[in-house]
Amino acid sequence: MSSDVFRTESEFSDLDARWGEFTSDESQPDPADAFVFQFHQVDEELGPDQRWTTWLDVERGSRGPDPRPDWVVTEQAAIDTELGILKTGKEADVFLLERAVDAIGDNPGKSSLLAAKRYRTEEHRTFHRSTAYVEGRRTRNSRDSRALAKKTAHGRGVAAGQWAYAEWDALCRLWKAGVPVPYPVQVDGTELLMEFIDDGEGGAAPRLAQVRPDKRLLDQYFEQVRDGMRELARAGLAHGDLSPYNVLAQGERIVMIDLPQVIDIVGNPKGMEFLLRDCHNMATWFTNRGLEVDEQELFADLLTMVF
Ligand SMILES: Nc1ncnc2c1ncn2[C@@H]1O[C@H](COP(=O)(O)OP(=O)(O)OP(=O)(O)O)[C@@H](O)[C@H]1O
Ligand SMILES: [Mg+2]
Repeated sequence: MSSDVFRTESEFSDLDARWGEFTSDESQPDPADAFVFQFHQVDEELGPDQRWTTWLDVERGSRGPDPRPDWVVTEQAAIDTELGILKTGKEADVFLLERAVDAIGDNPGKSSLLAAKRYRTEEHRTFHRSTAYVEGRRTRNSRDSRALAKKTAHGRGVAAGQWAYAEWDALCRLWKAGVPVPYPVQVDGTELLMEFIDDGEGGAAPRLAQVRPDKRLLDQYFEQVRDGMRELARAGLAHGDLSPYNVLAQGERIVMIDLPQVIDIVGNPKGMEFLLRDCHNMATWFTNRGLEVDEQELFADLLTMVF
């Protein structure tokens, strides 16, 4: 899969040779031109599904929190390659992306798979999130607020970017709090890059709704879901759209995803309602799979974490 990303030895030496020829030329041109030459040589190797890493295009706060896992590729020479779509959703599409850097000299090459969640602008959506989610949420500047209100093209871009940023912010907070969520790698406008949760065989991990765990694993999954919800509640938050479709089953572990709408349990007028709905969705799934879970008990348990 990475064959088109990693340059072969011969391509490397070919490039080196051409560079050597160029720099040893008698009519040595301006070094600035030499740089342009080199840049073009490299640029030509980008395929239609590739781009240079966007890691350094974004400001520090738009890159993942510390301690940063060592699989995160931060090299400026890295290339992103599109590997296809994972799922089209109502407001966003999720793509599989490889970010990789070649081995150069003593530096070993490195590559990692990322899930790229790209939010769509409003006119491309099939579903509008309830305004209940956004109550109390502010835009960062007045140009953006006016654009949002007027629904200009810029405004639609701002709205999509705000959802991406909201999910980014939630992932960073929750990852730091130890909630099982994908590691947030970076956010850039309407695109959010995060850890790809795989199935151990190169594919995406299934949603909880698609698996039929045995009793032992079912118990383990429930404990992890409840612990995750407790951590969220300790931070004063409810997922807001928790269901067996927004929980991935990665082997023995579960990972919560799809968090742009996290709800402030106390600050949001419908906070309790959302929390109860999350409890209902999860309790129903576990009960149907054979583990009796009382949604009211779960709800009460979580409330003790909030207050
Ligand atoms: N980090 C990830 N690793 C692996 N797969 C992922 C990841 N994030 C999302 N997916 C896949 O993409 C699907 C859609 O992601 P998500 O739920 O975040 O987006 P959505 O637009 O809200 O989708 P939907 O409308 O279906 O809820 C997930 O159900 C999952 O299959
Ligand atoms: Mg979803």
